[in-house]
Amino acid sequence: MDEPLSPTPIKGALQSTIPIEPIQLQGWVRTRRDSKDFSFIELNDGSCLRNLQIIAKNTLPNYAALQRLTTGASISVRGALVASQGKGQKWEVVADKIDIVGGADDTYPLQKKGHTPEFLREIAHLRPRSNLFGCVFRVRSRLAFAIHQFFQERGFVYVHTPIVTGSDCEGAGELFRVTTIDCDYTKDFFARQTYLTVSGQLEAEAFALALSRVYTFGPTFRAENSNTSRHASEFWMIEPEMAFCDLNGNMDLAEEIVKYLITDVRKCCPEEMELFAKFVDKELLARLDFVVERAFQRISYSDAVDLLRKSGEKFEFPIDYGLNLQSEHERWLTEKHFKCPVTVFDYPKEIKPFYMRLNDDGKTVAAIDLLVPGIGEIVGGSQREERLDMLEENMRGHKMDPADYKWYLDLRRYGTVPHSGFGLGFERMLMFITGVSNIRDVIPFARTPGSAEF
Ligand code: 4AD
Ligand code: MG
Repeated sequence: MDEPLSPTPIKGALQSTIPIEPIQLQGWVRTRRDSKDFSFIELNDGSCLRNLQIIAKNTLPNYAALQRLTTGASISVRGALVASQGKGQKWEVVADKIDIVGGADDTYPLQKKGHTPEFLREIAHLRPRSNLFGCVFRVRSRLAFAIHQFFQERGFVYVHTPIVTGSDCEGAGELFRVTTIDCDYTKDFFARQTYLTVSGQLEAEAFALALSRVYTFGPTFRAENSNTSRHASEFWMIEPEMAFCDLNGNMDLAEEIVKYLITDVRKCCPEEMELFAKFVDKELLARLDFVVERAFQRISYSDAVDLLRKSGEKFEFPIDYGLNLQSEHERWLTEKHFKCPVTVFDYPKEIKPFYMRLNDDGKTVAAIDLLVPGIGEIVGGSQREERLDMLEENMRGHKMDPADYKWYLDLRRYGTVPHSGFGLGFERMLMFITGVSNIRDVIPFARTPGSAEF
């Protein structure tokens, strides 16, 4: 009996500098074609974009069954990794044993021809087996890792903020209820009204006022009925929170992380990035390099409104001091005017949540939105109101009862400090890095209004 072999990932086999015999591989058949005495199988195991060519000789005992193998079937191969005779690949595997693990038939929906993203969304359970989505989800994994690396390198502590919460951080009322019954909340599971969190910020603030520099990175939920290519009902957010930090320090960190993440993925996922540049967005790599190399711009909300007013552009939505910037305005600023990422700061207090710090002008709050070309807002953040009386005042101004937020106000009662933080949308960052234009295509199983399949 042969010693059992542990399988080599195809990525490892392709990177080998020497022939390997014996080698064991496992994966899914991408294509198969017959020549006179052989069958050629293109095998992929998801470890990388590339396939490995397997040569099945007609002397294999199960050759007849192998000739019936179709796209999508899973196999286990033992053989020798040898320099390829053919063109287009360095290595191939000459098999001495191929076991069919799981068959597939011609109803397998992922055939060789290109499929539209819309069609692939309907088969979200199979689309990670396609080249594009394999790349997207490997990059998603790397990006998540790079986020932890960024903060851990800088001494931030990772805090797991709760997913079930009693507060509406953004005050926008876009909450999913968490309940086991339909009416009397005092008898409900948590003996109070609870929701899925829209942001871990409030809890992160409590930890920042103990551990100084913290971050959360987890799922957040919003029941906003915006069916756009940039909104999901369930998405992930990265939220750093820093004690003893003002708005400038906050802007610096937001710019630094955006550049860091691009640089990391460019370096660690070169094959995937090349595929995006070839098939998704021809300008992608030039744009990303430009973003990494150049300084970002900063502009106050009121100066941005002036620029937009004088732009001569026809916008669908009105521009006026006191109105929210719409996506079209944000994109004009970053794509047409500055042609690079731009941070807009100091927004009118009326259009921002209760926790933002009131500026000395009494009209604006220390808010930031970082806008990037092609997407618009990717980061939203602020310096937090650390003065107890001002915070209570803000709450009342937002029709909130300070009594409901006693624990949050305690943070200002005991050892309050200036502090700042922001939220970076994980999927928006992933869209920016990959060039993929619809948020549904960077989420394994997307949840959007009217859609929670799988
Ligand atoms: O600007 P937002 O609403 O900020 C907050 O939630 C703050 N509490 C964050 C903080 O200061 N700790 O959201 C932050 C980011 C946005 O800039 C955007 O990138 C992303 O989260 N985001 C969404 N991404 C996908 N789908 C949605 N529905 C999103 N809503 C916000
Ligand atoms: Mg925002």
